[in-house]
Amino acid sequence: MGLSSRPLSLCFVIFCNLFLISHSLEFAFNGFNTSGVTMGGSTDIEASGALRLTPKTPNLIGHAFHRDPIPMFNSSPNASSFSTCFVFQILPDLASRGGFGFAFTLSPSPGFPGAEGGHYLGVFNSTNDGSSANHIFLVEFDTVNGYNEELDKDGNHVGINIDGMTPVASDSATYSVNGTRAKEEIDLESGDPVQAWIEYDGFGKLLNVTIAPIDSPKPIIPLLSESIDLSKVVKDSMYAGFSAATGQKYSSHYILGWSFKLNGIADPLNIDRLPFVPNVKSSSTSNVKLKNALIATFSVIIFLLLLALGGIFVYRRVLEFEHLEDWELECPRRFRYKDLYKATKGFKESEIIGIGGFGAVYRGVLEAHGTEVAVKKIMSNNALQGLREFAAEIESLGRLRHKNLVNLQGWCKHKKDLLLVYDYVPNGSLDSLLYTNSENGKIILNWEQRFSIIKGIASGLLYLHEEWERVVIHRDVKSPNVLIDAYMNARLGDFGLARLYDHGKNSHTTNVVGTIGYIAPELTRTGKASTSTDVFAFGILLLEVACGRRPVVCEAARNVILVDWVVECMQVGNIYDAVDPRLGSNYVSEEMEMVLGLGLLCSHPRAETRPTMRQVMRYLNGDEVLPVFDHLSASGSRRVDEITSRFLSLGLSESIITPVYNSSSSVGRVSTGSFHSGR
Ligand SMILES: *[C@@H]1O[C@H](CO)[C@@H](O)[C@H](O)[C@H]1NC(C)=O
Ligand SMILES: *[C@@H]1O[C@H](CO)[C@@H](O)[C@H](O)[C@H]1NC(C)=O
Ligand SMILES: *[C@@H]1O[C@H](CO)[C@@H](O)[C@H](O)[C@H]1NC(C)=O
Ligand SMILES: *[C@@H]1O[C@H](CO)[C@@H](O)[C@H](O)[C@H]1NC(C)=O
Ligand SMILES: *[C@@H]1O[C@H](CO)[C@@H](O)[C@H](O)[C@H]1NC(C)=O
Repeated sequence: MGLSSRPLSLCFVIFCNLFLISHSLEFAFNGFNTSGVTMGGSTDIEASGALRLTPKTPNLIGHAFHRDPIPMFNSSPNASSFSTCFVFQILPDLASRGGFGFAFTLSPSPGFPGAEGGHYLGVFNSTNDGSSANHIFLVEFDTVNGYNEELDKDGNHVGINIDGMTPVASDSATYSVNGTRAKEEIDLESGDPVQAWIEYDGFGKLLNVTIAPIDSPKPIIPLLSESIDLSKVVKDSMYAGFSAATGQKYSSHYILGWSFKLNGIADPLNIDRLPFVPNVKSSSTSNVKLKNALIATFSVIIFLLLLALGGIFVYRRVLEFEHLEDWELECPRRFRYKDLYKATKGFKESEIIGIGGFGAVYRGVLEAHGTEVAVKKIMSNNALQGLREFAAEIESLGRLRHKNLVNLQGWCKHKKDLLLVYDYVPNGSLDSLLYTNSENGKIILNWEQRFSIIKGIASGLLYLHEEWERVVIHRDVKSPNVLIDAYMNARLGDFGLARLYDHGKNSHTTNVVGTIGYIAPELTRTGKASTSTDVFAFGILLLEVACGRRPVVCEAARNVILVDWVVECMQVGNIYDAVDPRLGSNYVSEEMEMVLGLGLLCSHPRAETRPTMRQVMRYLNGDEVLPVFDHLSASGSRRVDEITSRFLSLGLSESIITPVYNSSSSVGRVSTGSFHSGR
C-alpha cells in the first residue's frame, strides 16, 4: 500500500519519543472480536468478524468504541496528532434509498446518552446539537440529504463536524485519481467496501480526510483538508469509535477493519484478510434487471396497444369531420357545422335576430338538447386569418361565466367563417328597448328597470375586469351589446371579441375597434384599449339610459355628442333637464343624480379621473357617495345649482372631441385616420 512508503513527516519525528512511552496508542483490527471493542445499541459482530453498527431496520442507533481511552494531550497545550484508517460498507434497502450514514467519532465517554437517530447519526439530539459542552469531534459519512439542506447539499457526502451536525467542512464523496485534480465519485451506499483515512496534524493543526474504493491506492490529494485546532475540542482522555443511525430510511452499516495510531501513521489494513459481508445488491441487481426487463416489455406492449387505439380514434374522427385542423381537435367547445346549420334552418334570413359589427346573429335551436342558442356568423375576412392562435383565446372566453354576461357556449369554424354559439337572450338589446315605445305608446323601460340594468352591466364588467382569472377588456361596451333576458336582467355580450377581430391585420395603421360615441379620446390617439376605455364607454351608456338619447345624434345638420349635451343642459339650466322626458317625474331623484354624475365621471376625457368598475359598483350600491356629491345641501334648487357648478369645475367639456362624422350608422370600425381628419 502507498501508506507504508510515505516519508515520515516532521511532526512524526517530534512526537516519536512520546509514542515510545505509552503502550495503547495504536491498534489494528482486520475484522473484529468482542475483546477489542465496546459496543452499544444495535451494534453486533457477525461470525465473519464484520462489525455491524446497524442492521437494515428503521430507527436504530449503533455505537462501537475502542475499549481503551486515548490520551489526547501529552503535557502539551496542543492536541496530539493521530491517524486512522478503516474500511466500511453500507448496504442500502433496495426499495428506498438507504439512510442515514455513520460517523467516526472522538468523544469523552464510550457512548452518547440521549442521542437521536436519523440525521443526528446517534451522536447528538436536538437539544445538545451544536453545544460546545459536547467535546465531540466527528467525521460524518452521510447518505441522506435533508438535515441542514443549505450546507449538506449532496446526500452522498463526507463532512468534518465539531460538537454538532453542522459540518465545519464537507464535500461530495469523491476521490482524486492518480494524484490529479480529476475527481471520481464514490457512491457511499453502493454496497461496495470503501476505505477511509483521517489524519490530524496537531502541530500544523490540519485535518485531512481521504476516501477511495477498496481496490485503489490511497489518493495523494485528500478529499477534505481543513485547518482545525482540536485542542479546544478534545479532552485529555477520548474514546475513538463509530456511530451509525437509521430513521424512516435505513441501511446496514458495517466496519470491516480499523487501524489507529496516535502521533504516527496508522498501519495499513490487510485488505485480503478483511471479513466478507454478503452484498445482497449483486444478487438482487439481477432481480432488478429482470424486473426492469419485464416492465419494459409490458410498457412496449401497452404503448403499442394505445397507439393502435389512438390511431383508430383519430381515423374515425377524421372520417366524421373532414377538414379538421389539429387545434380544432384539441378544443372541447367545438360545435359541428352540420348541427349549427340545422339549428338555424340553414342560416335562413328569417332567423336573423341582429346584425352587429362582426356579422349577423341567428336564432337557432340545437336538435340534440332542444335548447335555444344565438349563433353569430363572422364572415370570412382577412382580419380573421391566424385564427389558430386565437383558438386558445376563444377557449378562454368560453370559460367566462357570469349572470350578467351572454355566455359563449362554443364555436365552429367552417371554411373561412367563424361561428360563435351564445346563450339565447329573448328580450333583445338594450338600445331596442330604450328607443322604442310599446304599442300603447308607453315606454318599455321604467326607471326601476333601467337602474337594475345599469347595476347588472356594471357587475358584468367588473367580473371581466377584476374578478376573473385574467383581465378581459370588453372593447365594445354599448347599448346594442347589452341584451335583456326574460327577467329583465342585463347581460353583456360580445366581450373580448374586438381583440380577435383586430388580430391578423398586418397594416401599419392602428385600427381602433369600437363604436362612435363610445370611444375614449385617448383610444383614438394611442389605439390601446384598457379597462379605463371600457369605463368611458360604460359612462356613455349610463347617460344614454338616463337621458334616453343616443351617444351621437344628428340634429339640425350637426352632430350632437351626448356628453356635451348633458353638460350644456347643466350650464343653461339644471342637471334634470337632461333626464329622459318620457320618464316624466317617475324616478328617484338621488339615483338619477348619481347615474348622471357617475356617467359624466366615467366618460371624463382624462382617463385618470375615471373610477374603476369596483368603485363604480360601490357608488351604484350606495356604499359610497360620489365625490362630487359630498356635503351637498339637503335638497331644493340650491342643491341642483351646487351639483352643476361642481360638475362644471371638473373640466368635463374642455377637451371633449367633437368629431366631424357623417354616417347614420353608429356601429362600425373606425380607423384613427378617418376619425381624426387632418392627422
Ligand atoms: C481479538 O482480536 C485481537 C486483535 O485483532 C486479537 O489479538 C485477539 O486474538 C482476538 N481474540 C479472539 C478471541 O479472537
Ligand atoms: C502548539 O502549536 C503551535 C502552532 O500551532 C506551536 O507554535 C507550538 O510550539 C506548539 N506547542 C507545543 C508545545 O508543541
Ligand atoms: C440530549 O442529550 C443530553 C445528553 O447529552 C441529555 O441530557 C438530554 O436529556 C437529551 N435531550 C433530549 C431531548 O433527549
Ligand atoms: C494512473 O497512473 C498509472 C501510471 O502512473 C497508470 O498506469 C494508470 O492507468 C493511471 N490510472 C488512471 C485511472 O489514470
Ligand atoms: C494533508 O494533506 C496535505 C495535502 O493536501 C498534505 O500536504 C499534508 O501533509 C497532509 N497532512 C496530513 C496530516 O496527512
